[in-house]
Amino acid sequence: MDKKRRFIEETFPVKEVGAESSREKNIRHGHISTLHIWWARRPLASSRATNYAALIPAPDNIDEWNKKRQFIIDFSKWENSLNPALIERARKDILKANGGKPPRVLDPFGGGGAIPLEALRLGCETYSNDYNPVAVLIQKCTLEYPQKYGHVEDEQGDWGELSSSKRRNPLLEDVKMWGQWVLEEAKQEIGRFYPEEEDGSIPVGYIWARTIPCQNPTCGSEIPLMRQYWLAKKAKKKVALYPYVDGGKVEFKVVGDGYEEIPAGFEPGNGSVARAVATCQVCGSVVDAKTTKKLFRDGLAGQRMVAVVLHSPGVTGKRYRIAVEEDVRIFREAEECLKVKREKLILEWGMDPVPDEPLPYDPRNIWIINYLPVDEQVFGSLFNSRQKLALINFAEKVRQAYGKILKEGVDSEYAKAVVTYLGLGVDRLTTHLNSLVRWRSDTISFERSFDRQAIPMVWDYGEVNPFSNSRGHWDLNFLLETMKHLSTISIPTIVTQSSATSLTYNDNFFDAIFTDPPYYDNVTYANLSDFFYTLLKRTVGHLYPELFSTPTTPKSSEIISDPYRQGGKEESKIFFEDMLKKSFQEIHRVLKPDGIAVIVYAHKSTEGWETLVNSLLGSGLIMTGAWPLNTEMKSRLRARESAALASSIYIVARKMQRQPTGFYNEVQEELKQHLNNKLERLWQEGVGGADFFIAAIGSAIEVFGKYEKVMDYEGNIIRADRMLEDVRRIATDYAVRQILHNGFSGEISDLTRFYVLCRWNYGEAKVQFDEARKLAQSCGIDLALEWNRSGFISKEKEFIRVLGPQDRKLEELEGSSKLIDVLHRVLLLWEKSKRSEMISLLQESGFGKSETFYRVAQAVSESLTLESKEKKLLDGFLAGRERLKEEIKKEHVQRRLFE
Ligand SMILES: C[S@@+](CC[C@H](N)C(=O)[O-])C[C@H]1O[C@@H](n2cnc3c(N)ncnc32)[C@H](O)[C@@H]1O
Ligand SMILES: [Zn+2]
Repeated sequence: MDKKRRFIEETFPVKEVGAESSREKNIRHGHISTLHIWWARRPLASSRATNYAALIPAPDNIDEWNKKRQFIIDFSKWENSLNPALIERARKDILKANGGKPPRVLDPFGGGGAIPLEALRLGCETYSNDYNPVAVLIQKCTLEYPQKYGHVEDEQGDWGELSSSKRRNPLLEDVKMWGQWVLEEAKQEIGRFYPEEEDGSIPVGYIWARTIPCQNPTCGSEIPLMRQYWLAKKAKKKVALYPYVDGGKVEFKVVGDGYEEIPAGFEPGNGSVARAVATCQVCGSVVDAKTTKKLFRDGLAGQRMVAVVLHSPGVTGKRYRIAVEEDVRIFREAEECLKVKREKLILEWGMDPVPDEPLPYDPRNIWIINYLPVDEQVFGSLFNSRQKLALINFAEKVRQAYGKILKEGVDSEYAKAVVTYLGLGVDRLTTHLNSLVRWRSDTISFERSFDRQAIPMVWDYGEVNPFSNSRGHWDLNFLLETMKHLSTISIPTIVTQSSATSLTYNDNFFDAIFTDPPYYDNVTYANLSDFFYTLLKRTVGHLYPELFSTPTTPKSSEIISDPYRQGGKEESKIFFEDMLKKSFQEIHRVLKPDGIAVIVYAHKSTEGWETLVNSLLGSGLIMTGAWPLNTEMKSRLRARESAALASSIYIVARKMQRQPTGFYNEVQEELKQHLNNKLERLWQEGVGGADFFIAAIGSAIEVFGKYEKVMDYEGNIIRADRMLEDVRRIATDYAVRQILHNGFSGEISDLTRFYVLCRWNYGEAKVQFDEARKLAQSCGIDLALEWNRSGFISKEKEFIRVLGPQDRKLEELEGSSKLIDVLHRVLLLWEKSKRSEMISLLQESGFGKSETFYRVAQAVSESLTLESKEKKLLDGFLAGRERLKEEIKKEHVQRRLFE
């Protein structure tokens, strides 16, 4: 491919692809996210669109631009993932741009495989890598096995359709069949520990409460810890557990619709424990959080089965009953059975079948460790005895399946592929089968754990029945659907495990690198994935000796900032920057001279972003574009919460010869011209808020990144952060002009600019101090000085809040002639219907006749959401604007007459 500019270096439909990406988060059937949990997966929509736009040339004319733009939008839709016409067209475009050969593409941080999957779909020769063995295994099941073995043998038939007469997708069929075999075998052995009720209903699961002894010496009863008592909390159905004291002991009964009435005054939402502070229902005394933790750590905590959730086949809805002695007896029996089975498997496997590997020390994310005695801080402690029994049984059956499949005379690699999916099935089951599973009264089901980026303590947990038909049972259907989707692509990826800081590929090997490195301290991949690693080691680890050679996942080269691992906060920052830089140097090394890289980075602050910029600059890669894509679901963004950016930035970078020196004056001039073009494009693509600045920085680096160093005429070196300040100033000017619809931006004060920009950037949300400081700086004001003077800026811990009229008092505002203060005062007077006072104020301050004043009010209103109080005040005020102006004029005349 020549070095001609690519589509993504010129333009990209940010808004539309962002919308498709957020929409995709609701899609489950056939989507790779259902194959296995992996944290911070990238949407396929944005991966597909950016990969494609990086592999085709920039448009020559406006017609072509519009056509390609529309194609990218259509093609990014989930519904078009398997559309043969669109795929064919995309592949053709790419082949043509690459001289008739499929481009060679690498993702060194492949994770769950979204980006390489989309390269594969585009027909590229694709390579994927990760440092983490669990990710590598997920990638093999996503990018290698379905493409290799999921082939349709009967070309006439539907992709992957199963039929008894013809084997069309052998992989799919075998996984389905052996999955069923595993289930039946396991059920035969341990099904009796989940007995049906006499009336034929089936236990969906059991609700447990952990317990601690009351610390009041005259009481000493057992406190069942429940964060709340609801079982079902729907508009039409309310059922709860009701705790009462009987003979000095807490007992429960089921109350609510279909049961005894909910006693008056009982509020099921208030449990017996909140933030580790527990209350004894017998004597009313309180156990503080520290003591609760200590009781757990000293091994003095217990657990109690409280309720059984039931389901009758053919009847909708669930029923509940309180657990009785018989339930406990069966549980004890399972416990005995576990002992025997465990001994047997220790001999057979040469290791404890229940994971005995230590939980990583990561108190920021793995909170559960605070509640475990030192000698129980192992992964096996996350399961109760019956869960352990189920787990090792399923694992044993998966291992046995491998032997049986081999006996059928198939290729051992194929057999390995089949059982690896069964291994993923066990992982899936255990996300529901552990003692951190929550019962959810709103969805009336057990919610799987490990989706969140932390392992918290769960006081009252659910134990699912793996043999029921409800959520959480052994179920491979989601997996099969995804495999079917993946089987339609027939080229396999080459998947490797290594650190991105030392890749095994030759120099100048790849046409493109599309990747998504870890973001600072956001997700502790290795620590979290140890849960799955220790399970996979037992189900399929022996088939992958190269991936499972260490007790837990390798951690030393993981690119993450973790003060516990790297010995301090500062050390962890240095480690992260250094490692990220090394990985960028590797990208630089293996990329062809005319190749292209797209690197995704998610960020919360411009700080995190600047770290990335420094790493890039140090690697020899030069940024040639940056697009912020809003890929999060809208519902996650609440107006008044802290302003978290929802965007991922897609950075385009190239390998370029750098010039030794640039002169600051010239670079500045170049920067201005370049930026004004770029900002226009960004504005047209609807990039707004803080993203606008980040994207601006991205494109600015294209200018000054060309030089090894930038100097002024006296020979002083100008650092990157100084240039970033220039960029912010230019971008701010541009944004304010646009927000005010090209008018009057020169007439407003720095403080007003800051107000307008804050509302436009963050709405009414609070903003990290440092973030706000930079924005203030670009408006020419010193934030630290401003918040001390009473005004609209208030500091709340590490945040800044920009106050609206409703947060301020009329008295405070009196006497100020600053625009925002007058505006706030006007709005408060308007709200209180003090019309004549309002008119005098507008008249006296001179703002009543000032077009700028109304323009600012209008711009602030446009930046706010419909629910905003400030917006309502502004809109009300602005609606009567023409009449007001008349009245101000009249008043003016009248005054003159009286004077
Ligand atoms: C943001 S995630 C990638 C997610 C991926 N794009 C997806 O959609 O699932 C970053 C990945 O980098 C991996 N990683 C961390 N350190 C690494 C290293 N030194 N070399 C290679 N991969 C590493 C993590 O295991 C994680 O899977
Ligand atoms: Zn008590």
